[in-house]
Amino acid sequence: MERFNFIFVVAGIGFFALAFVIMGALPLAQYQGIDVVTMDKLATNIPYQFGELARDYPDAFEKAFGTREPTAEAFKDALETGRRAYIAEACWHCHTQQIRRVDPNDGTEVGNDISRWASDTRLESHADEYHNAMNYPHLFGTRRVGPDLIRSSGRHSNDWHLAHFWNPRHTSPYSVMPPYPWFFEDGEGRIPNRKGLSLVTYMQWLGSWHTQFAPTKYERLPRLPFDESWYPPYVAEEAPAEGEADPYGAEEEDPY
Ligand code: HEC
Repeated sequence: MERFNFIFVVAGIGFFALAFVIMGALPLAQYQGIDVVTMDKLATNIPYQFGELARDYPDAFEKAFGTREPTAEAFKDALETGRRAYIAEACWHCHTQQIRRVDPNDGTEVGNDISRWASDTRLESHADEYHNAMNYPHLFGTRRVGPDLIRSSGRHSNDWHLAHFWNPRHTSPYSVMPPYPWFFEDGEGRIPNRKGLSLVTYMQWLGSWHTQFAPTKYERLPRLPFDESWYPPYVAEEAPAEGEADPYGAEEEDPY
C-alpha cells in the first residue's frame, strides 16, 4: 500500500509538471519575441462599416466618440468600449470566438466548425489572430447557445445588428437571444447610444482582418415560416425610460 501511495504522489506531481510545460512553458517560449499587435496598429485597418455608422448616426456618433469623423482615435475608443460591453453584457456566455480545425465534411453536427461558420472560405482560427491588444484576455468562450462570432465582420449590415440588438426576433424569429433596449438612447430602437455603436463596431471588426467574408451553412437554409402562436414574443413592450431601472436586472450605473 505504501508503495502505491508513493506512485500516486509521484504520478500526480509528474502530470502536473507535464501540464505546466505543455500548456504554459511551451506556448510562452513559442510566442516570446513576437510583439503583441497594439491598438494603434489595429486602427490602421478600419472596417468601412465604422464610416457608415458615422454617416448614418452623425449626432449619436459625435455624442459617443466626440467627433463626426470615423477617425482612428474614435475607432480605438469604439473597439475597446465594444469589447468591454461584450464582457459586461456576458455575450461570451452564449457565443464563442473560435473556429476549430475539425473536418468540414465529417457529417456530424458536433465536429463541423468550419462548415458551420466558415464554410466556403474554410477560415478556421489561427493563433496569430489572437495575438493583439483586443485579446487580453481572449474571449474564446465555451458555450455555443448562439453562433460563433469570430467571422462576424460583414456577415450582417449595421442596421441588421441594431435591429437584432433591439429585438433579436425581428431578424431571427426563433432566437433565444435577449433584447438589449439599453443600447439605444431614444427608447424606440432608432438611435443607438455609445454602447450600441461600440458593440456594432466590435461585431464588424471581428474577422475583418480577412478580406473574404465567410457565409455560414445556416444562411443557405430556407427560412421556416414563423408561427407566432408557438413562440409568444418575450420582449419588453417598452424600453426603460431615462433613469428607470432596466428590466433585466442591471442595477449598477452603466459605465458607457
Ligand atoms: C442567451 C444567449 C445569448 C446571449 C446572452 C447573447 N446571444 Fe447573440 N445570439 C444568440 C442566439 C441563439 C443567436 C442566433 C439567433 C439570432 O440570430 O438571434 C444569436 C445571434 C447573434 C448574432 C448573429 C450571428 C450570426 O452570425 O448571424 C450576433 C452578432 C450576436 N448574437 C451578438 C451578440 C452580442 C453582441 C451579445 C451581447 C450583447 C449577445 N449576442 C448575447 C444567443 C445569445
